[in-house]
Amino acid sequence: MEALEASILESIPHAVIGLQDRRIIFVNNGVKTVFGWTSDELIGRTTRLFYRSGKDYIRIAGELYSILEKQPIASMEFPCLRKDGTKIECMINAARIGQQLKEKRVVITYENITDRKRAAQELEFSRHQLRQLSAHLQSIREKERARIARELHDELGQLVTALNTDIVLLKNKIPAGQKILLDRVESMSSLVGLTMETVKRIYMGLRPGMLDHLGLTAAIAWQAEEFFRRTGIACDVSFSPEDMAIDPDLTTTIFRIFQETLTNVQRHAQATKVTVHLTAMDDQLELVVKDNGKGISDEQLRKPDSFGLMGIKERVYHWGGKEAIVGKIGKGTTITIRIPLLKTGETS
Ligand SMILES: Nc1ncnc2c1ncn2[C@@H]1O[C@H](COP(=O)(O)OP(=O)(O)O)[C@@H](O)[C@H]1O
Ligand SMILES: [Mg+2]
Repeated sequence: MEALEASILESIPHAVIGLQDRRIIFVNNGVKTVFGWTSDELIGRTTRLFYRSGKDYIRIAGELYSILEKQPIASMEFPCLRKDGTKIECMINAARIGQQLKEKRVVITYENITDRKRAAQELEFSRHQLRQLSAHLQSIREKERARIARELHDELGQLVTALNTDIVLLKNKIPAGQKILLDRVESMSSLVGLTMETVKRIYMGLRPGMLDHLGLTAAIAWQAEEFFRRTGIACDVSFSPEDMAIDPDLTTTIFRIFQETLTNVQRHAQATKVTVHLTAMDDQLELVVKDNGKGISDEQLRKPDSFGLMGIKERVYHWGGKEAIVGKIGKGTTITIRIPLLKTGETS
């Protein structure tokens, strides 16, 4: 039996230590790997050796033993120290020996989780950086779009308008009976009209001006109408309240999310109707876009290349909000997003 116990002890890849009144009464060879101490050096000494400070030694033990007063096992993570002074992080699992905690008799396993923790931290850091990068790229892209839209509107729009004025003047100067000239000028006039429309379509596609001047609800209503005109899919919108004052960046975010959901309806849903509700409450903004199409499946939701949906999630995350995408096969898809709002007065 003793041989079996010894092999059990040695088969554990962590440091295993038996304690009585905080003095070490037995150890396995794992202590050498985890702490750099040999068993001979440890027997009879206290676990103070494993802690970085006397304060830690008292505080952590206080926590641990008070848990073990109440329950047979406990686990926690804390900073430790190796014999050579290297700082490590350990995860411990402690079990009291016997039914009750008597003379602080416990067995503790120490696992060195330094590398694991560092890897987790690095992963978290890199995820954070990716998120920052993605938000930064979005914001650059948005500014760029706004700039091009403005230039198209202001510069090109002005030029084409001036051209149109000249054509009208020219037309009035053509003597009666000059049919060929008149036809030419009329053709020019309609080409100029077409150019105006094209320029407008392009800058509105880049960034609709009402987003900056008339606000979110106007932009959403316009986009819904555009969508119906383009696809024939009815798009009912309702707002509560009708007018809402929302941070300009958040306005852009919600608008872009709305556009992505409409693009998805058009591309994937085979729907005949979309209903949109935008509600500004005291402390949050809610957008619900519901279609009556074929419904999104869990698989599609989890696809690694679902960049549209990922973009929605990232945008929502950036504002500290939550989103829910629910698909009922054959019945349609509902996307709900909620974003916390600052108190009135704090929003611009
Ligand atoms: N409204 C919807 N109805 C049905 N399926 C949808 C809907 N929206 C998204 N999907 C499904 O989810 C997938 C992921 O969407 P998304 O991330 O926007 O990527 P993409 O539109 O580029 O395919 C789509 O390929 C589609 O299969
Ligand atoms: Mg998409």
